[in-house]
Amino acid sequence: MPPTHLTPAAPDAVTPAEAVAPLVRGITVLRRLTEAGGAQSLSGLEKATGLARSTVDRIAATLARMGYLRLDGRDAVLAPQLMELGNAYLAALELPRLLAARADALADELDESVSLAVADRDGIRFVHQATRRRAMSLSFRIGDLLPAERTAPGPLFATGWTGEDWARWRDRRAADPQDRGFPAVPPREHPAPDEEFEDRTRRADARGWSLDDQLIEPGLVAVSVPVRDLGERIACVASVVSHTSRHTAHSLRDVMLPRLRTTVSAMERDLREAPARPPASPMSPASPAGLATWTGASKQELGREFVESLARGLTVITAFGEGRAELTLTEVARATGLARATARRALITLEHLGHVTSHGRVFTLTPRVLALGFPALSRTTLPQIAGPHLADLADRLHDSASLAVLAGDEVQYTARVATSRIMSVNITVGTRLPAYATSLGRVMLADLGPAERGPLLTGLHALTPHTVTDPGALAAVLDRVREAGYALVDGELEEGLRSVAAPVRDRTGRVVAAVNVAMHSSRRTVEECVRTVVPELTATAGAIEADLRVAGRFTHVAVA
Ligand code: PHB
Repeated sequence: MPPTHLTPAAPDAVTPAEAVAPLVRGITVLRRLTEAGGAQSLSGLEKATGLARSTVDRIAATLARMGYLRLDGRDAVLAPQLMELGNAYLAALELPRLLAARADALADELDESVSLAVADRDGIRFVHQATRRRAMSLSFRIGDLLPAERTAPGPLFATGWTGEDWARWRDRRAADPQDRGFPAVPPREHPAPDEEFEDRTRRADARGWSLDDQLIEPGLVAVSVPVRDLGERIACVASVVSHTSRHTAHSLRDVMLPRLRTTVSAMERDLREAPARPPASPMSPASPAGLATWTGASKQELGREFVESLARGLTVITAFGEGRAELTLTEVARATGLARATARRALITLEHLGHVTSHGRVFTLTPRVLALGFPALSRTTLPQIAGPHLADLADRLHDSASLAVLAGDEVQYTARVATSRIMSVNITVGTRLPAYATSLGRVMLADLGPAERGPLLTGLHALTPHTVTDPGALAAVLDRVREAGYALVDGELEEGLRSVAAPVRDRTGRVVAAVNVAMHSSRRTVEECVRTVVPELTATAGAIEADLRVAGRFTHVAVA
């Protein structure tokens, strides 16, 4: 029996005859992997979902081909490209783009975490988190779902509930008294009576704010205020979250509520003044992201295991985005390149599973799209993103491959895949080396302007007879590196050590890290390095950048 939280939107809803079964199963696997924290063995998935092993294998192969997961031995691991589904929802929602900077500024001003949440049926789901890492309490991620009654935003959203909404809420609590359907929160130990939440909702309605006094876990306190849109409807709720070691719920209200209200007023002004976007024109070409990479591939290239109906169904989600919040069937078909009948069945399936809603002829994504991997992936760091790509590179070249960042005038290794070959330099994650004499350092220095570069290029000294130490000569080397897009350093750090590096750029084009391959100089000539290693390195840097672009669109990706 699959756990209750894997059952679709309304547990008693009959699966429509036109639903695409492989899409339903694929989404079950993605949700399960998300709840498991982003990784699970294939046999574990088989048990948790109740699907046949051959089905799990085919779904995993399909998702791997789409770049949505990685097979690591017997484990399926969610991959950063999957975040494009959640990104489609967040871009269509527009609130993160319009309000995140104000939430971040408030978190800085208060030195407390600030979040934005939207309503998701009888729960709340986070769409932005400006998190202060603190030792004591658990902190939630973008995409996490919490039961409304155990949060501060919940009563504010419940002020707009219909009788039907209240009935659904009571049913859910009766069916799941411990909140097992909410893997982000600890199980409920002491069931609070329904009246308590009804009271809190009445008070929230009267006051316009709401508190969470340790409803999720001991110590965690929060105060919330609704952010209203042009039509006076609650677009999202902004919260300040703290811990009882710093604030009681009441001192949090006394100290933070005025400042939270000031920020919310500014947010509401921003929402009013945001230029209304024209609806997606029926003449607009394809989806902004372009057609998915697999759509051009032949059946043979995709392999026998590839389940096309699953891939097509998920691709429908990426038709939505900024300025494309409401799409008709025709627009979805046009954006994805799918036949109308195919797009229609995918939309019916996604609606049945609660990832899409429809009003008349238009379809919109729901916050539940974030349950497809987003929380599990939203704290991925650059070294984690790079790891599998470095392993592929080391595998292809049979040489050690590394990722590093610039730390002052040194490079610091942040990820490394070593081959068994014995190297004269013993490098591990955390190792620092002088930037000016390494290929990694040179590609990062080359991206800096003269003013930033200058202070990092003082006190150059020869580490071998070949080290370039003349500032003018080094500046010329860096200009050539910038032009060429890679650096090759031959025996300047250590005799006999040859290394090649390429830059890794973020969404804005800034170099944030570098990848390299290092070898003994007897292994390849300089010409061979340029001919065979440089293209491989450039491809690896490009793959890391592609992941970083997707992962960094709505979350902050730590570089180290
Ligand atoms: C959070 O942002 O982590 C948060 C917000 C409101 C709550 C609890 C946690 O009630």
